Amino acid sequence: TLSSVAGLLLGYLLGSIPFGLILTRMAGTQDIRSIGSGNIGATNVLRTGRKGLAAATLLGDALKGTLAVLLASQLIGPEAALPAALGAFLGHLFPVWLGFKGGKGVATFLGVTLALAWQAALVFAVAWLAVAFISRYSSLAALVASLLTALAAFIIAPPPTGLLLAILAALLWFMHRTNISRLLTGTEGKIGKKG
Ligand code: G3P
Repeated sequence: TLSSVAGLLLGYLLGSIPFGLILTRMAGTQDIRSIGSGNIGATNVLRTGRKGLAAATLLGDALKGTLAVLLASQLIGPEAALPAALGAFLGHLFPVWLGFKGGKGVATFLGVTLALAWQAALVFAVAWLAVAFISRYSSLAALVASLLTALAAFIIAPPPTGLLLAILAALLWFMHRTNISRLLTGTEGKIGKKG
């Protein structure tokens, strides 16, 4: 429907704002895409040693997803919420402004979940922190947390929300395919360490 398309577009516009790239550029660090994993997300911004910038990246990339869902449901209607979440996530992964080379979607996944089913976002936060604390792998924490979040959403949220978050989690796993092979070969970089 028209509302779905409008929600998708609004979400995409917000989601495609690459906070990691913008903030590191404003701070005048080396191009984030030439550091560590080359990813534009908060984990890689942390590899510049700038904790505040990394926190701001996490916040920006998450809240753009939250805002997309809230704005779409207010301005367009509640039926635009899920399309906006999908749009924001796809915008972050494939921003037209960066030749469709975006991020891996962890912060934006958290942000849209917060707006769609906040209890599931809590599951994400707890799972991410626990796995990251134990393993020191940001990617592993995101993989486990996204899976548990989708499962939780099926229990606590309406079926379409659970289905959407499962699709986003599957995409998130796909974007982490090189991280997954590095985890399997024991060569994945740990949190805060360069490379
Ligand atoms: O989960 C984002 C993070 O999981 C991976 O980032 O830079 O280590 O590839 P990076």
